[in-house]
Amino acid sequence: MEFSKNILITGGAGFIGSHVIRLFVNKYPNYKIINFDKLTYAGNLSNLIDIENKSNYEFVKGDICSETEVRLVFEKHNISDVIHLAAESHVDRSIEGPMEFVLTNVLGTVNLMQIAKSLWKENNHVFHHVSTDEVFGSLGSEGLFMESTPYDPRSPYSASKASSDHFVRAFFHTYDFPVKMSNCSNNYGSHHFPEKLIPLVIHNIVNKIEIPVYGKGENIRDWLWVEDHARAIDKIFHNGKVGESYNVGGLNEWTNIDLVKYLCKILDAKLNRQDGESAQLIKFVKDRAGHDARYAIDASKLEKELGWKPSLKFEEGLEKTVDWYLLNQEWTEKITNGSYQQYYKKMYTN
Ligand code: NAD
Ligand code: TYD
Repeated sequence: MEFSKNILITGGAGFIGSHVIRLFVNKYPNYKIINFDKLTYAGNLSNLIDIENKSNYEFVKGDICSETEVRLVFEKHNISDVIHLAAESHVDRSIEGPMEFVLTNVLGTVNLMQIAKSLWKENNHVFHHVSTDEVFGSLGSEGLFMESTPYDPRSPYSASKASSDHFVRAFFHTYDFPVKMSNCSNNYGSHHFPEKLIPLVIHNIVNKIEIPVYGKGENIRDWLWVEDHARAIDKIFHNGKVGESYNVGGLNEWTNIDLVKYLCKILDAKLNRQDGESAQLIKFVKDRAGHDARYAIDASKLEKELGWKPSLKFEEGLEKTVDWYLLNQEWTEKITNGSYQQYYKKMYTN
């Protein structure tokens, strides 16, 4: 079959990438979707088990930092567009070891663009770079991140994402390279690696393990249902303006401690525990170094220009997420390959 686009989605075996792949494979049977992923600790092909046999989907194992592997996949599949999600994504890991973040997030992004630039001769291509609101830094109690907010990254993770964003813009301005960008707030939903707050808390409550809350738990994050992020990427990829960036978020701010307590309450009910039982697992631990106080996104440009809005209330999405983790407890064991306990011990028990 002749496909109208051959889209390379990088990082498609990860959390958000797997939701983007599922959406595109199901919604666009006329597109060929090539999932290019190195399968690091965060990548898991079982995230895509429901679509892996579709005729418009193919997985290629590879590293975005490798010139040979990227060139090969571009040439073999005649790649027309890229949606770039592959990244090292966990702030705590970036504090422990920033170099992997520089390599994948910065060098890998530039490598992808260099190769696309050398092969794309017409002007009908799109390179959609998926980024984060963390590049804007840390907010006080007032205000929202706008597209025009100056970059002020403060963790090695956000510094690497900010650097990649700058390279993406530089390629647009210098070479007329056809970029589109999005900066999204914290995502939640199914298939989220259990080192991030929400899946970690669910895992620990279910298994009656202490819940580590950094500092006083007063830091604020702005949570968005991962499928709404995937829908935003769909809109921006198709209808966003070349050279522009779009903020993605759901005006849904929670302090970490309120969110953790809310998860405890949901799970007490679902696990037939006494109200308040799971909250006893909460343990305030040493704060994260350089911990950003508050993230909050103004997504009005995306809403007004492209007609996107979040589809799900947080309470509804959180309940669906909890249900998914309860039904898929073996997923957590499998994806962490027994390493969850080791990771957890290393991070929190010294
Ligand atoms: P994730 O860690 O769950 O998945 C990352 C994926 O990239 C994995 O499948 C991994 O195997 C792959 N990968 C890593 N290094 C690679 C390499 N060198 N070559 C090829 N593949 C590689 O991450 P996520 O949470 O799904 O985030 C995806 C993207 O969205 C990232 O760019 C992240 O910065 C951005 N983002 C994430 C959030 C969030 O809340 N998780 C919010 C906004 C933006
Ligand atoms: P995380 O899910 O790592 O996302 P990010 O740091 O990219 O926003 O963390 C979300 C918030 O939860 C952040 O303020 C740090 C905090 N946190 C904890 O308090 N305990 C934990 O065990 C984790 C992983 C995070």
